[in-house]
Formats: sequence, C-alpha cells, structure tokens
Amino acid sequence: MDGRACKTNNLTRRGFLKHAAAAAATLGFPYVVPGSVFGANAPSNRITMGCIGLGGMGTNDMRAFLGFDDVQIVAVCDPVTGSREYGHWYKNGWQGNYLGRVPAQKIIEDHYSRKKAGADFAGCAGYVDFRELLARDDIDAVTIVTPDHWHAVMAIAAAERGRHIYCEKPMTLTIAEGRAMVEAVRRHGVVFQTGSHQQSNRHTRFGCELVRNGRVGELKRIIAPVGPNNRKGPGSGWKAMPIPDGFDYDMWLGPAKWEPYHKNRCLYMFRFILDYSGGQTTNLGAHSLDMAQWGNGTDATGPVEVEDLGGEFPRDGLFTTPTKIHFRARYANGVELICKTEVKGWTGARFEGTDGWVQVGRFDTYPKSLKQSVIGPNEIRLYDSSNHHRNFIDCIKTASEPAAPVEVGHRSATVCHLGNIAMTLKRKLKWDPVNEKFIGDDEANRMLDRPRRSPWHI
Ligand SMILES: NC(=O)c1ccc[n+]([C@@H]2O[C@H](COP(=O)([O-])OP(=O)(O)OC[C@H]3O[C@@H](n4cnc5c(N)ncnc54)[C@H](O)[C@@H]3O)[C@@H](O)[C@H]2O)c1
Repeated sequence: MDGRACKTNNLTRRGFLKHAAAAAATLGFPYVVPGSVFGANAPSNRITMGCIGLGGMGTNDMRAFLGFDDVQIVAVCDPVTGSREYGHWYKNGWQGNYLGRVPAQKIIEDHYSRKKAGADFAGCAGYVDFRELLARDDIDAVTIVTPDHWHAVMAIAAAERGRHIYCEKPMTLTIAEGRAMVEAVRRHGVVFQTGSHQQSNRHTRFGCELVRNGRVGELKRIIAPVGPNNRKGPGSGWKAMPIPDGFDYDMWLGPAKWEPYHKNRCLYMFRFILDYSGGQTTNLGAHSLDMAQWGNGTDATGPVEVEDLGGEFPRDGLFTTPTKIHFRARYANGVELICKTEVKGWTGARFEGTDGWVQVGRFDTYPKSLKQSVIGPNEIRLYDSSNHHRNFIDCIKTASEPAAPVEVGHRSATVCHLGNIAMTLKRKLKWDPVNEKFIGDDEANRMLDRPRRSPWHI
C-alpha cells in the first residue's frame, strides 16, 4: 500500500457530490444549528454524522468529531439509555459517567449550546435501532463503535445507504465479514476508516518506513506483544441477572445467539467472550498486528502459515477468550511473526533484522542512530496522517482513501482471527491470502464465519 497518501480512491465524483448535497440539506429542517456555531464553515462544507454505540470508545470518538467545526452530529444510537440503568458498571467505569444514548445526547447538546446555538437548535436525536438512524436522509457519515459482533452488519447496512463509515477496530468478528465489508464499501463508493489510530501516529509511520527501507537490514522476525486479560469473569455456576431497565438487551445481542443476561457479558466485558469478540488477540492484536503488517509491507495481504505455540483458553465460566496468547505466523517473504501475551508488554511491534531492530508502539531502535535516519525522496513513504479522525473527515470531503482503509482493517483483523483459529485447533495451518481460505483443512475453513441470529445478516 505504498504511496497511499492523498490518493483519490474509487469513490465516484457523483457519490461524493451526493454526500456534499446531503450535507447542504442539513441547513434546514429538522436539526437546525445556526451558522454561527460553525464559524466559517458553510453548510455545504459540513459533514453531518450519526454516532452508533456510545460506550467507552464511542463517547471518545464522538467527542473527537464534536471538536471539528465542519462536523455536525445530529443523531446517536445505543440500546443503553444511560448511566442509571448501567450503574453497576459505571461505578467502576473507566471513562466517568458519560456512557449511553442519553448522556451522549446531552454532551452534544451542551456542546452546541456552549457555542451559542440559538433557540432554533433542535437538538440531537436518539435511537435504539440503528436502522432508523440510517434511514434519515440528512446523515453523511456514521461512527460504528459497538461490540465487534455488530460491526459487519451495521457497516454493510450503512454502506448500502451511501454513508461514510468510521468503524472501530477490530474491524470484524470473522474473516468472511471482512471480505463482505470490503466489497460493500467498494460497491457503494463510500469512505471507510478503521479506528486503527496508530496509522496516524508519526513514530509508528517513521518506524515502519525505516523497516520498509531496509534500515534494519533483512527483516527476519516481528514480535507483536499483547497485554493480558485485564478483567476476571464469573466462573462456572454463574447465574443470570435481571436485564436492567432502559437496556434493550435483544438489540445489544443482535446477530449473536441468545444467552441469559449477566452484567459481565455486556459493557466493556464483551471483549472476553468469543460470541462477541476475539479477546486480547483481536482487541489489542488489532493494534499490534496491524503495525506488524504495516512495517512488513503486507497490509493488503497476509501470512501463508500460522501455528499455535501454546495458547490457552478458559475451561469454564462466562469468559471464553484466550487467557494466554502465543502463536506464530509466517509470510511469503520468509519473515516470521510471533504474537504473545506479555504481562508487562506494550501494544506495538518490534521488527528484528540482520542489522538492527526498530520498535513501534513504544518507539525505539537499535542502533540508536537509526532514530536520526532520514527517509530520502526516492525511498518508500507511507500514508501521512497525523490525526485519525480529522483524516476521515478530510477524506470524505476530497473523496480520498483514508489512513487504515477497509482492506487494511480487514487484513489486520484477519491475522488476529488466524491466530485464534490456530490456537483453537492446535495445529499448523496453511493460509492462502489471495483466496482467503485455509489450504486442505475443512475444519479450519468452517471457522471463517459464524451463523447469525435472524433477522441479522451480512
Ligand atoms: N481504537 C481504540 O483504541 C479502541 C479503544 C477501545 C475500544 N475500541 C473498540 O470500540 C468498540 C467498542 O468498545 P468499548 O470499549 O467502547 O465497548 P462498550 O461496551 O463500552 O461500548 C459499546 C457500546 O455499543 C453499544 N451497542 C451495543 N449494541 C448496539 C446496537 N445494536 N446499536 C447501537 N449501539 C450498540 C453498547 O450498548 C455500548 O454502549 C470495540 O470494537 C472496541 O474494540 C477501540
């Protein structure tokens, strides 16, 4: 993916203008914010957004987009009404008390009020069902910051409605979902950015450029650490709990199979249950393995082999994702990638070559002098973005491909899923990154996708 920077993607000019026109339509009914709120930004330059999923990260992403004068958030969607209903989690919450649909609406309305919106400010709409948000005619772009099991269903529905998409990492729950998302994004010509914000970090970009330009000599090995599980779930014999008022649990479960409610199934904790996520392999791996792919120059493809090196899964209890991650992947260029739970690990990748190493995520090099290395004009330069959210908005306006586009998000998530599948099956698997199938292993191929509860489909 060299030279991705500022490259116009396959968005059609017509599609782009359609969205610009839709943005202009927000000048009027029904969510009117006076022009003064947006300073010099004419309505036709504004991007109108709907935010889907307003938990820990969704609220963060929403705040980032709220900070841009040329963005107007007009709607939010979450089956959680607000903090009162989720009190048992909020007491120990990691981001204060501002999670859920109603708190998000309040943050948005307070923000625009502080910016001196007049009496005609009609507020931010709230939805429990994202299909109602997508059905509006005045939304250009959406954030999808739900648990992973929802990303594909929502993103494909959003693409079909012509909405640009900021979708959090890990992009998928299954490998098949990723390919379906890539195809939907291409077919409908929308901008799609994966929330892999490390691709908008200058140290990560520079480190990957050093590796791509041979500063470590011949690249031999990549170490991609992931942190351990940071929560403990209830063990065997856990008991179902009453569904809190104000929480549409069925809409939270969505395409996942029906299971009794427990507070440790939902907010934040979903990442430790295989029905909704891939554990730290996909949660932190989506960052570390994404950096590994970027530096290796394989961000639009993948490894050719993957094997378990001693991964462990819980034997009972509510949590089902790996308690210990350890697998190896090999690439066609001979490079081996080791992903491993490191108790004191960092999120990132260390590229080891014949002449030294470069570490990204926690930037460092050996020899130290590599830090002063200058990437020459004829050398490989990587996509240059310094603010992930800003890059998404700019790319909508210029009909360009963003940092961490859909194919890259899919391929990074694929490496994570390959690791989980190898650690489950406990044997060496041959992977065909072109056809995205395991070679000669029907059992592994059956793990490329999962059934979805009706009526949800991709
Ligand atoms: N880029 C990053 O650094 C980063 C950091 C944290 C989380 N994330 C990702 O963000 C996503 C969410 O993680 P989180 O920690 O914020 O989880 P969370 O549980 O705090 O938030 C998820 C929110 O989605 C809502 N939701 C569930 N079903 C929904 C539906 N049908 N419609 C609308 N909303 C729905 C939940 O009610 C909840 O409020 C995950 O994919 C996670 O990996 C990314």
